[in-house]
Amino acid sequence: MIRLATLAALAAGTIVLGAGLAFAQDAPPLKPFLGDRTHGMQLYQTRCASCHEAGADRTPRKDALIAMGPDTIVNALSRGVMRANATGMSDDDIEAVAIYITGHAPLPKVAEGPEPNLCAHADPIKPGPADWNGWSPDSANTRFQAKPGLAAADVPKLKVKWTFAYPGSKNTQVTVVGDRLFLGSNAGKVYSLNAKTGCAYWRYDAKGGVRTAPVVAKLAASPSGYAVFLGDDRATEIALDAMTGKLLWSTKLESHARSMLTGASAFLNGVVYVPVSSSEEIATREPDYVCCGFRGSVVALDAANGKLIWKTYSVAEAPKPYRVAGGKNLTGPAGGAIWSAPTLDPRRGVLYATTGDSYTDVDTDGADAVMAIDLKTGQVKWRNQVTAKDNFMVGCPPGANAPANCPSPVGPDVDFGSSVMLRTLPNGHDILIAGQKSGVAYGLDPDSGKTLWQVKLGRGGAAGGVEWGMASDKTNAYVAIADGGRGGTPGLNAIKLATGEVVWKTPAPVLPCPAPQRCTVAQSAPVTAIPGVAFSGAIDGHLRAYDAKTGAIVWDFDTAGAAYDTVNGIKGAKGGALDATGPVVVGGMVFQHSGYPGVMMGPGGRNLLIAFSVDGK
Ligand code: HEC
Repeated sequence: MIRLATLAALAAGTIVLGAGLAFAQDAPPLKPFLGDRTHGMQLYQTRCASCHEAGADRTPRKDALIAMGPDTIVNALSRGVMRANATGMSDDDIEAVAIYITGHAPLPKVAEGPEPNLCAHADPIKPGPADWNGWSPDSANTRFQAKPGLAAADVPKLKVKWTFAYPGSKNTQVTVVGDRLFLGSNAGKVYSLNAKTGCAYWRYDAKGGVRTAPVVAKLAASPSGYAVFLGDDRATEIALDAMTGKLLWSTKLESHARSMLTGASAFLNGVVYVPVSSSEEIATREPDYVCCGFRGSVVALDAANGKLIWKTYSVAEAPKPYRVAGGKNLTGPAGGAIWSAPTLDPRRGVLYATTGDSYTDVDTDGADAVMAIDLKTGQVKWRNQVTAKDNFMVGCPPGANAPANCPSPVGPDVDFGSSVMLRTLPNGHDILIAGQKSGVAYGLDPDSGKTLWQVKLGRGGAAGGVEWGMASDKTNAYVAIADGGRGGTPGLNAIKLATGEVVWKTPAPVLPCPAPQRCTVAQSAPVTAIPGVAFSGAIDGHLRAYDAKTGAIVWDFDTAGAAYDTVNGIKGAKGGALDATGPVVVGGMVFQHSGYPGVMMGPGGRNLLIAFSVDGK
């Protein structure tokens, strides 16, 4: 599983050379850079070209980098997923390479000063009757909001109420508790806003990029009585006072340099359960990198002080040398990154986690698996590996030309990037629903992990199948299929929870192509459901609402279609692709983050949070 940047580049030729340049020029705040670009060019050729000119599967090609804009490139190199590839580069070098690639200078450091639109006063935090806290309103990860505060009939009347622009690219889904909204960005900014108006209570500047959905919990150890938990891209979990944004503690969960946190934590009875993921899978073409050493894990922390209670690896055996290639002692097994939020089952005393692919050709049953882990001890109760030998690194061609770090043979990259959902069927039996990048949805027995049924809903593949998540009500699961690129069948499917039988299938509408980079209609964003309606976002920027009974599209909003003057004073801000985060519905409002690198970034790498309400009231 690697779902960071590059779906557009991957979407089988939907990006054409130069397309991104036109987009960058559209962006009003960016000024063309007219100075000397020799230094940046030399850096690009020596430090970037070996990977980014090769165009190997998910590595964004230069035209895709151009489309991301200079700020995203600076962020990726200075703090994001490319920081290991920028070792030894100064801030000036990083800026020079971003300028060389895009022809534009980055914006002056954004949002370092005080927030422009602070709230006039702050009431104490008071949880509401139907909050959305963390990945899903419930810890069973159904992404079902039972009390949305609006009727299904109101959904077609949703209009933009306010917008908020902020730096960063891969951002968190929002959390809403009472009148407070929390969100973070991979530029390291964490915000608490008023959900009704978008004014800011506080901002916290984290050291690492933050992209895990925030989780708020009652905590006596926090001065206001409430804390918010988030994870960063250096595998550090942080706890902030929810009322003031002051740091309570931070705990590094994994020493492996390529580890990072992408899935939301889960909170229960004073314990925070954190899934650990990694970017080691993209180190393929680094000649000095000895692969592979990372293993995914779930870590249980004491919420009061961040102290470790237990840590359980997805891949049970520690990596050890297994093969010499390219003069390197390769180690394995490795992989099994956990990309998504754990699902809690307090009645059975377990949590469920889904795991990513394996990075080496040493067999492990901890990759592409669903696991049940004891909440108290961290002991593994069962593992169900649905695909064996999915050994994958980004950019490994089949055959003899593969870089030394590549596993052989290379697997299909059809692992899990989304959480399982726990539901009770009308007959009283519980069931787990899992969705895989292969396009297969599974029903599993929560007691044994055994597969009860499975149904293939799409072609699947590296940017295919179920990417970030599904939703379910009492009878159906709503499964979005990404299937970017040629030959895929992107769209939304409703299937019966009990049997997997398909109730309806609505293919992604294919619209006239407004710009080359907006031609992919992949539906990789996580689905959200309310009574009578399921919401699903697409890479082309459209957020759509579907009638839960028939699959008819009842509302369709292009989040990348217009420019907005935001509540925090940014003029002409734009959204972009929808990916990785889904709509959050609370108190009659729908909150959706828009903008994801690789496709349709907003001007200068800014992103847009859009708050909708009925008729915009
Ligand atoms: C060893 C190979 C390698 C090298 C060297 C490398 N990159 Fe990358 N880069 C990648 C891969 C692979 C990805 C895709 C990451 C993903 O999908 O998670 C990527 C992604 C990116 C992204 C998108 C980041 C995001 O937030 O998603 C940017 C920007 C980028 N690279 C810029 C650069 C620049 C500039 C250089 C040179 C200074 C560079 N890279 C050097 C392999 C490399």
